[in-house]
Amino acid sequence: MEHVHHALQLGQSGNQGFADIKLIHNCLPETSTSLISLQTLIGELNLSSPIIINAMTGGAHETEEINRELAVAARETGLAMAVGSQMSALKNPEVAASYRIVREINPKGIVFGNLGSEATLEQALRAVDMLQADALQIHLNVMQELIMPEGDRDFQGMLKRISTIVDNVGVPVIVKEVGFGMARESMNALCEIGVKIIDVGGYGGTNFAAIENMRRTLPIEWLNEWGCSTATALVEAVNTTAKRHHVSLIGSGGIRSSLEACKALILGASAVGIAGAFLKTLRSEGTSALVTQINEMLNELKLVMTALGAPTIADLHRVPVVISGETAHWCYARGIDIHSFANRTGFIKIT
Ligand code: FNR
Repeated sequence: MEHVHHALQLGQSGNQGFADIKLIHNCLPETSTSLISLQTLIGELNLSSPIIINAMTGGAHETEEINRELAVAARETGLAMAVGSQMSALKNPEVAASYRIVREINPKGIVFGNLGSEATLEQALRAVDMLQADALQIHLNVMQELIMPEGDRDFQGMLKRISTIVDNVGVPVIVKEVGFGMARESMNALCEIGVKIIDVGGYGGTNFAAIENMRRTLPIEWLNEWGCSTATALVEAVNTTAKRHHVSLIGSGGIRSSLEACKALILGASAVGIAGAFLKTLRSEGTSALVTQINEMLNELKLVMTALGAPTIADLHRVPVVISGETAHWCYARGIDIHSFANRTGFIKIT
């Protein structure tokens, strides 16, 4: 609950890099809103829309209430939804109900379990079983742990444990950051061990350095700016082996609007994750306001896709886009070709 309160108090004022991503207007889109499909594939999971309610909570009475209402919103809108880390329920089965509620409310929905990279295969199997989960998220949160006085200090063996879970857990595994982003070197390492879905979890939204600093008596303030932006993390994937290994990307970290969601999809994501922005609506305006917000986002996404002449999510990956500012500078330094983004030939050909 401390995380929930601090996340709401701090809000989402960071720069996720999407202001640097300029869309190119297509005045002859040659498509129709009625032809737009929001369906998308992440790994082997078929989603009816590309927005995911990302991992947040569970483990206490008040969090059960939050998970219940998020699950109602997921059910009403058809969105996939992740629960927060289930480690507390694995250690104390009495709190498992605060996670199970998600499956009870939404028996046919797509539900993701969630654990940290310290989890063993046995714990991963129990977490999936607890929810009859369709997939398992493994979160990477090294910086958050380091800022927590009581946090982990030893990060050896993460890849080996993730690899064992990927090979044996029986459901797709999504490896995600929690707001510090991922660079190509880390993504390549995950691709090599067989991870098929990566959520880049970039900087610019909920800030776990700032949240943990609020819980410290002696804050390490300069760490509040640690991490690479969501836009940067998505372009980092270009020079990885993700395509060769058929790895799907999820863009998350500071996504608040349908335009930002669309930009993440254009940069290569097959879905986007939203946590803090949905939590804010739920806690300040209630469940039906959250359902309205999600439906409006999906509707607006269809409008943008129509304007761009991109009837499917896969078509968005071929839409040209100009990368400017700090993100372009980053690309230049890291050898990422911004011209190939700007000169994609994805606009529908006029015959
Ligand atoms: C989170 N997040 C998170 N992630 C995770 O993998 N396991 C967890 O238990 C939690 N817990 C959690 C609590 C709260 C209150 C928030 C707001 C978030 C991180 C979340 O899934 C996401 O990666 C980041 O919040 C960045 O996305 P947003 O919030 O900027 O959309």
